[in-house]
Amino acid sequence: MNGNASATGTASAGTSPNDEYWRGRQHLAYYRTVRDYQRRFCPDGKLLLDVGGGVGLGCRYLEWFDGFERTCVELPTKGCTLDGVSVIHEDFGNWQTDRRYDLVLCLQLLEHIDDPAAFVRKLFECAPTAIISVPYRWPATACSEHVHDPVDETKLKAWTGREPTAWNIVESRLVAVYSESASDPLAAEFAARGEWVTRYRINGSLYGGYFLAADDPRLTAFLKRCPNPGRVLELGCLEGGHSFALDRTAEHVIAIDARDANLEHARWVQQILDVTNVSFHRGNLETHDLANWGLFDQIFNAGVLYHLPRPWELLRRLSAVGREMFLCTHLAPRAEVEQNGYRGIFFAEREGPKSGMSGRSFWLVREDLLRMLADCGFGDVEIINEFPTRLGPYIWLWCRSRNGPERQTQQGLPVTNIRDGELQL
Ligand SMILES: C[S@@+](CC[C@H](N)C(=O)[O-])C[C@H]1O[C@@H](n2cnc3c(N)ncnc32)[C@H](O)[C@@H]1O
Repeated sequence: MNGNASATGTASAGTSPNDEYWRGRQHLAYYRTVRDYQRRFCPDGKLLLDVGGGVGLGCRYLEWFDGFERTCVELPTKGCTLDGVSVIHEDFGNWQTDRRYDLVLCLQLLEHIDDPAAFVRKLFECAPTAIISVPYRWPATACSEHVHDPVDETKLKAWTGREPTAWNIVESRLVAVYSESASDPLAAEFAARGEWVTRYRINGSLYGGYFLAADDPRLTAFLKRCPNPGRVLELGCLEGGHSFALDRTAEHVIAIDARDANLEHARWVQQILDVTNVSFHRGNLETHDLANWGLFDQIFNAGVLYHLPRPWELLRRLSAVGREMFLCTHLAPRAEVEQNGYRGIFFAEREGPKSGMSGRSFWLVREDLLRMLADCGFGDVEIINEFPTRLGPYIWLWCRSRNGPERQTQQGLPVTNIRDGELQL
């Protein structure tokens, strides 16, 4: 190593003048992810370099890496030290080393750096395995010292110039590991199956597309109203992202989508996750006879009603099979046309895994959506959330059906013997 080291510390961690700082941070979940990635991608490493480890501030996570010879390069701060960790007080950008480490960490630092791409290049030169964490989508106003917020996976990729070997989003932090030698076979299998919309968290890493359904606030809103769902009907399930999250609490989920390609993705991930409480079925909800599936305690109806040309037809069928329904849908921003006595707009459907099955769908203005729900049997409606989007207002509702069945768990149809497509109209 070159002789630029200006200080090293080996005093006892117990003498830290800033215990308070570490008490506030030691339970942060992203440290656990960093530990997991080290165990997975650098299990036999001997030399660890941490850039900006915060030792001087009182950070002590390097204690957990005591199997390594540990070096930390950081600017001088409050002067805390840590047993067994050599601290070099220098700007990493100017620091020179002729040593190659096994693992380099850089946690919650890049967002402070003027030229993060150059910084990352240097990190990659230091070790074959790098673990980087950044704040995930923090607003630009969140921290005056962050010069790149909001940071997301696209921005990180622009800095690193490559896809991570594995990554996760943990409590608003993105943790990514980059390994020169290891690869993740599951990531390759996902890539081989083409384009994905849904992003899944599997064994502590993220796979698939861009939409992390498990963290969707609509799921939280649904589970707040029914923490112990029974027999759930999920409509327009796409690739099963919500279904697998519902599976953790619901007794059973019947999930319906019109597209075979979506259902193939869903069933493949279902095997990986070993989910047994969900069954996926193909059906076009414009006409599908829901009565064949039995009765339901709850209906999860998110993002699909506004893909239908005659939404009242589906709502009528739903009120006969379920008592409670969580509904999320777009509203028409203005009344341009009238359909079946309701005012709204026609919306041209585009091609794609998320679109409707007819060329155009019908969106209702707010007042007429509420009237249509009552006409179709959902007389008791609570508005949970309403907000503007690029396409007009979006609304979340909790709807109860007057005539819907009582709790159905254990009383619905036995689902295990129903094969996909059997009930397709
Ligand atoms: C916008 S995505 C919504 C996915 C998910 N429910 C959500 O809210 O994030 C719409 C989904 O509904 C499905 N879909 C659209 N029209 C449908 C129809 N007529 N019958 C069944 N599924 C349909 C699409 O294939 C797609 O998976």
